[in-house]
Amino acid sequence: MSIAGKDIFDVDVLTPEEVILIFETAKEFKEVLKRPIKKVPALRGKTVCTLFFEPSTRTRMSFEVAAKRLNADVVNFSTSTSSLKKGESFKDTIKTLDAMGIDLYVIRHKEPGSPMMLKKYTDAVVINAGDGVRAHPTQAILDGYTMWEKFGTLKDLNVTIVGDILHSRVARSDVKLLKMMGANVTFCGPKTMMPLGVENYGVKVSHNVKEAVKNADVIMGLRMQLERQSGGFFSTLDEYNEFYGITTEMMELANPTAIFMHPGPMNRGVEVITKVADSKFSKVEEQVTNGVATRMALLYLTLGGNGDGKN
Ligand code: CP
Repeated sequence: MSIAGKDIFDVDVLTPEEVILIFETAKEFKEVLKRPIKKVPALRGKTVCTLFFEPSTRTRMSFEVAAKRLNADVVNFSTSTSSLKKGESFKDTIKTLDAMGIDLYVIRHKEPGSPMMLKKYTDAVVINAGDGVRAHPTQAILDGYTMWEKFGTLKDLNVTIVGDILHSRVARSDVKLLKMMGANVTFCGPKTMMPLGVENYGVKVSHNVKEAVKNADVIMGLRMQLERQSGGFFSTLDEYNEFYGITTEMMELANPTAIFMHPGPMNRGVEVITKVADSKFSKVEEQVTNGVATRMALLYLTLGGNGDGKN
């Protein structure tokens, strides 16, 4: 099995077997991250370019760290200091970067479909790091990996995702991956924050968080995406917190081994209280570490890694 040369536009480009291959490879790379010298020569001679047209801390930094851990060269394209500011087109920008020998692009953009647009101008591998509200496949892979690491399987896991589902590319990619791997998903949030056609997602929908978290193995909080909202979705953040904020009581209503997850960045006191975010239930920091390991696996496998230099 190989995903060499595969563009990761969303998780639905992968089969369940390929997802497990990524998880198994990430598990090996996580061991590398625990060594005193956290580096292997697996991608020596390859060049990765990150193109972030939207803000990011976790995704951008973890792709850069992942590429460096594999000994790839990394170049970070800065939109604000590039010749885009002088009117150069996106197409000419990519053709210019391609001429420098880029092997793989990581792109984040507010426009849904931008990774596919990029692919029109390059033969390099393209990985979507978030396109508008459409998809965030590498977040779904690291989320799935975090659950797989804790529970050993995703099959029959009960995952409750609470919050601003409407504006969440994470929820859209997570639900595809989780359902593909056999998990049961519940979306919970105000009616105004459910996507159009939510009944077609194959999930349970709830507007009562205390009911939605019963029997959950995973409770995932989502950030209130104020930058994508035009207002009128709820009255105040305090009121949102009162009805939908994840508290210790919610964690105690879930299964005894339940974990709390959040893709970050977190709004403490809005979608989750600090006591839960920093509790024994919380896998938030583990998710970040797993983001590096799973992105190492994705870079390695899509760039044709065949075992050489992996250890
Ligand atoms: N989860 C996530 O995408 O975080 P960043 O926006 O910081 O990359």
